Amino acid sequence: MEIKREDLMATLGGEKVAAGMDSESKADALEDFLSNELDKALTSTDRHFPTVAEVEQKIPTRHFRMGVGNLFVAQAPGARVKMLPPMPDTPTLYDFFALRFAPANHVLQSAALAMKNGMPEEIILACLLHDTAQALLKADHGYWAAQMYAPYVPEKTAFAIKYHQALRFFADPAYGYEYPDLYRRLFGEDYVPLPHIRADYEMLKNHPWYEAPRLVTVNDYYSFDPSAKVSIDPFREIIGRHFEQPQEGLGNDNSPVAHMWRTIARPDMAL
Ligand SMILES: [Fe+2]
Ligand SMILES: [Fe+2]
Repeated sequence: MEIKREDLMATLGGEKVAAGMDSESKADALEDFLSNELDKALTSTDRHFPTVAEVEQKIPTRHFRMGVGNLFVAQAPGARVKMLPPMPDTPTLYDFFALRFAPANHVLQSAALAMKNGMPEEIILACLLHDTAQALLKADHGYWAAQMYAPYVPEKTAFAIKYHQALRFFADPAYGYEYPDLYRRLFGEDYVPLPHIRADYEMLKNHPWYEAPRLVTVNDYYSFDPSAKVSIDPFREIIGRHFEQPQEGLGNDNSPVAHMWRTIARPDMAL
């Protein structure tokens, strides 16, 4: 990502304003700027897409790998990770949204779209949760997220979360779903999905629950609007009805996935 000094200065309010800012405000402003630039790159409408070979050539130019979770690396050059607020003793899904997944714009906007489109509650919940495992790691995030949520949500919700990842690679005109330009940008225009993704797609085509993950891809919201007001409040009733919050708190319930929640709660643990 190329940063132009004049663009950054314009965002800060000009050289004079920038000169009067303390270093912490400057660091925060820089981080916001970089994060917006990154969003712009992801929602770019530039029709030139890289090839798979060009995408691969960029690997050794980074200090991180593309699959790393958002909590674990400040991805923009020059940015630093932030101090994280501590989690309460018995954390709920709301605490994870507020303190670890935030701002969670993409999933909140996807769930809002699903609600507006009159989707069933299990699907709205799937849309709300579908990409949240990207805090932990992005590679195979649908599979990680489905496992992380399986003990707490309806089976169909976990199914929808798991397989949205495979279906995103395959267009379905019947649902108005097109292969996303974002994937051409991220993976290369000549990219062929991995064998497990192709196999899952073949399985899903004849599965009675095909529609569940397909509806997540249809409501996957990419027109990112940084000024959009997003909130988890419209989904509280659905969460209350369909999310089994463990009394001990997520991460403390000794479930087979408790360690995933603990890792998200305390990503600064060295080991
Ligand atoms: Fe996703
Ligand atoms: Fe998504």
